[in-house]
Amino acid sequence: MKRTVLLLAIWALGAVACDEADEAGAPAGAAWLDDVEQPLPQWLSDTGLFADVRTFTPAEGVAPYYPPYPLWSSGADKARLLALPPGTAIGVGEDGGFVFPVGAVLAKTFTLEGIEGRRGEEVAVETRLLIKRAAGWTFAVYHWNRENTEAQLIAGERWPERRLELEDATGTGRTDPYTVPGELDCRACHDTHRQAEPVIGVDPLNFDPDLAPLFEVAPAPVELPAASPEEAAAMGYLLGNCVHCHHGREKGDNAAFSLMPAALRANTVNQPTASSASGDGIRVVPGDPEGSAIYEAVVRARDPGYPGDFKPMPPVGIDRVDPDAAAVLGAWILSLEDE
Ligand code: HEC
Ligand code: HEC
Repeated sequence: MKRTVLLLAIWALGAVACDEADEAGAPAGAAWLDDVEQPLPQWLSDTGLFADVRTFTPAEGVAPYYPPYPLWSSGADKARLLALPPGTAIGVGEDGGFVFPVGAVLAKTFTLEGIEGRRGEEVAVETRLLIKRAAGWTFAVYHWNRENTEAQLIAGERWPERRLELEDATGTGRTDPYTVPGELDCRACHDTHRQAEPVIGVDPLNFDPDLAPLFEVAPAPVELPAASPEEAAAMGYLLGNCVHCHHGREKGDNAAFSLMPAALRANTVNQPTASSASGDGIRVVPGDPEGSAIYEAVVRARDPGYPGDFKPMPPVGIDRVDPDAAAVLGAWILSLEDE
């Protein structure tokens, strides 16, 4: 409860500061985006990514996109934007991953429905940024004010995670926990050595074909090597939520356990778990979701009082179980019984 009050105070402060900025006539859409080597502006509206942050309208030349296999983040909807410097394009590197030009910026705004005291039906909570500078990639987060008119930079290198309690708008007094990740959490998913660049949702196996004009050579869409619709759905789910860590390349924590589409069956069906930090079990037992380690780690390990040894998966970035994960993984494991 205390935390909520504090949080409201922070929002209120943000709102006041932001009104002052408006009165001082801060230039709309200043040109940070034209030279990303500059320090990040304090307000999202000054990044140049949006023509109007209040309506989430992207600036001209900034491309909205939607990856076919999105990450589930505790029920938040996300609006994604990609901006490249004029005259540049995305290429392909030696490892087969996409390579972005210096000056590329990717942004993801997280919105949720029905939060107390905020404008509109879909209210923004945070906007995450990935920026490619000459010296490498930088991560950043902007936290939206209570009125949803502006978002403020959560400052500094290595900022800590921020736990929020988001109040239900229907007056039930219910609150939902929500975590804005700290920088180390961003890196836990994005810097996993799957490929040279930390971008995940614009990837050879997971990209929006509408982005084709932004590539040097438009990449061919990839078909998943699935034996059934249930398997295709499971592969897609794991692509969006797991393979940034479980990618099978050498480096990274437990990266050796690959959940990439081509390796999925060989690495899971009737295969024992291998992590010493985790529980013993069989990763996928055909026909038996409850007896499968994957299902246990994703669904049951998040139950309060869960008695087993599995760490909830994914280990960072979500606050509760994705109902789709239970349905999609369960349906796939059941479908394997008939083979
Ligand atoms: C639990 C893992 C996880 C964490 C933690 C995480 N991300 Fe991501 N992020 C992803 C995945 C997966 C995608 C691609 C799928 C999507 O967009 O839904 C993504 C997409 C993005 C994008 C769009 C560009 C891209 O890589 O696809 C940005 C920008 C971004 N994240 C920034 C951040 C920042 C900044 C943080 C820390 C505050 C962060 N992320 C924390 C997994 C994570
Ligand atoms: C942020 C990185 C990360 C993400 C994302 C992630 N995992 Fe893991 N996973 C790990 C690590 C590290 C371990 C080993 C440590 C442990 O078990 O405590 C692990 C262990 C596991 C294990 C048990 C060990 C084994 O050998 O079988 C399973 C099952 C698993 N993950 C499934 C998943 C699934 C399914 C997803 C997606 C829904 C997922 N993980 C997402 C990092 C991640």
